[in-house]
Formats: sequence, structure tokens, C-alpha cells
Amino acid sequence: MFQIALFPGDGIGPEVTQQAVRVLEALDLDINFTEAAVGGVAYRAHGDPLPPATLDVARRSDAILFGAVGDFDLDTLPRHLRPEQAILGLRRELDLFANFRPAIVWPALADASSMKPEIVAGLDILIIRELTGDIYFGTPKGITGEKGSREGFDTMRYTEAQIARVAHVAFQAARARSNRVTSVDKANVLDTMQLWREVVIEVSAEYPDVALDHLYVDNAAMQLVKKPKQFDVILTGNMFGDILSDQASMLTGSIGMLPSASLNADNFGLYEPIHGSAPDIAGQDIANPLATILSAAMMLRFSLNMPEQADRIEQAVQSVLEAGHRPHDLGGNLGTRAMGDAVLAAL
Ligand code: IPM
Ligand code: MG
Repeated sequence: MFQIALFPGDGIGPEVTQQAVRVLEALDLDINFTEAAVGGVAYRAHGDPLPPATLDVARRSDAILFGAVGDFDLDTLPRHLRPEQAILGLRRELDLFANFRPAIVWPALADASSMKPEIVAGLDILIIRELTGDIYFGTPKGITGEKGSREGFDTMRYTEAQIARVAHVAFQAARARSNRVTSVDKANVLDTMQLWREVVIEVSAEYPDVALDHLYVDNAAMQLVKKPKQFDVILTGNMFGDILSDQASMLTGSIGMLPSASLNADNFGLYEPIHGSAPDIAGQDIANPLATILSAAMMLRFSLNMPEQADRIEQAVQSVLEAGHRPHDLGGNLGTRAMGDAVLAAL
């Protein structure tokens, strides 16, 4: 029996995770879900966006299925109490350093992108984003001084070990694809990124069958819209990966389609859609649940070792799209639950 920690979170999180749970339950797998509060809902109930009890549930589980966190009304809280600290805290506490963010253009959605279909048709790239270091977690950070002359500062930091372990993940992932890694950095300006490039080159010596090239992040952003199909695996740090993965999502038509996995060294993982909590559309049954349903498929593949069941979910999503069913973000009129129904029917 697998133990899954279910963390729906804020905004549309509960609606989209509910549909993913329905899909998993329909597969009749030996899974037990334990739900716990994260994000704004956890802050409101317990005064803490990541209560110790929630972290305990995560530690006792085989994987985490996560919705989204974020709440406009809590934006003025001190940083350590804000909903986002839930996901950042889980990444840090569970050492979920390897973030897989695939951006795939589903054949049925080639004309849903704001890009010309010939630029994006058949696109299949995998962004591997480092998730536990960089300017997100580096110290010192803070705001000092008096109002009017204050200074804000954050610190970009990476150790060789942090760079090397995520580089290994990227090279191994490339071996299962087209054997190409593009490492994205800013080695021309930042010392941290110069180290990044040196360590990635060192690690690449162990993967002579994988081609490696390097791009500065500004150029990578440009190439991603100019000629996205030149990429296979993109390896990058936490900050650049945050930005480039949102950009890549738009090549595919909607951020509502993109799943993600965040893994530690033991393949324990947190699975979440890359979109946020979208409080403006919460509770209206119009959010697209497919990114979360596809995240559940990644969970079966990476953490629960059930690749066939993962394929079944992905094929069901594909046939739903091919049948012309569209959620609101893709110009259709099927609600969150109706999209879940369509996937269940296809299964
Ligand atoms: C993401 C999100 C998070 C991040 C936020 C919610 C902290 O944007 O997962 O991409 O910046 O990593
Ligand atoms: Mg982001």
C-alpha cells in the first residue's frame, strides 16, 4: 500500500487535486491518501504555512501530490509566514533538488499556442531546474536601513556538490531522450554561474554520449521563442529555471497543461502543476485540472514505479484532447469537474 500525502493548498489547488485523486482512484491502485493543510489555508488555521504536522505527513509518505499555494490577502505578511513558504519549506526540508518540468506540445493543441504552429508543433523539451539553492535560499538576505534609504539584498550561492548532483540528473534524463543537454547560466557576469559552468563541464566527462552546450540565460530566453525545437534537456539553476519554465509553458498553449516533479536523491518526490493558485478563478469550477492529473502520472512513473499506469493516464488525456474537449484556458467550455469526467471516461 502506497501512502500519498495530499496537499491541496490554496485557490484552485483543491479543485484540481480533487480531479487528480479521482483519476488515481479509478485506476484501483493500492493507494492511501492523507490530506494536510499547506499555504494560506494552513496559515489561517494554524498560524503557519507549513505546520509541523503537515511536514510529518510528508515525511511518512511515499510521495506528495500538491495543488498550489498563494493568497492575495496574505501578501502583506512577513515573508516567513507567507503561503509560498510552504512549497519552499517542503523543497528545503525534503531536499527536493531536482525539478522536472517537461514542456510538451500535444498534437491536438498545436494551434493553441500563441506561437506559429510550425514553430511549436511536436515540441518536447524537459527543463531540469535546480530547486534547493541559488538566490532563493542563499544568505545573507534581508532589508536594512530606514525608510527612504533602505537596502534590499539576496545572495546567489551554489556549492559544487549542489551543481554536480543536479547535472547528473540532467545527463541521465538526456540519455532516455535525445542525448542533448543545454546548460543555461550567466557565466559572463556572475561568479556563481562561472562555477556552475565549470562543474557542469566536469560532470559531462562521465557522459561522453551526451552532447552538452551552454547558453547565457538572456540568449536562452530568446532562443526559446525563436527556435524552441533546438532544445532537448535544459539544465539550469533555481531562479533562471523559474522564469524559463513559465516561458516554456506558453509555447505549449497554456500553463494549465504543465505538470512537474521535484525529486530528492531517493526518488521521493513532490508532484504539482507548475501553475499557481489563481485566486481570481478559485471555486468557480473553471480551472484546468490536466496539469495536476499529468503530475499524478509523473508520480506513478517516478516515485511509485508504475510506468504503465502513468502511460494510461497520459493516453487518456491525449484522447480527451483529440476528441476536442477543451477547458476554459484553452478556449473551451468544460469545467474542472467535467474535464475530470472526460479523463475518467477515456480511462
Ligand atoms: C514555481 C513557483 C514558486 C517558485 C513560488 C510559488 C515560490 O513560482 O514553483 O515555479 O518561485 O519556485
Ligand atoms: Mg514559478
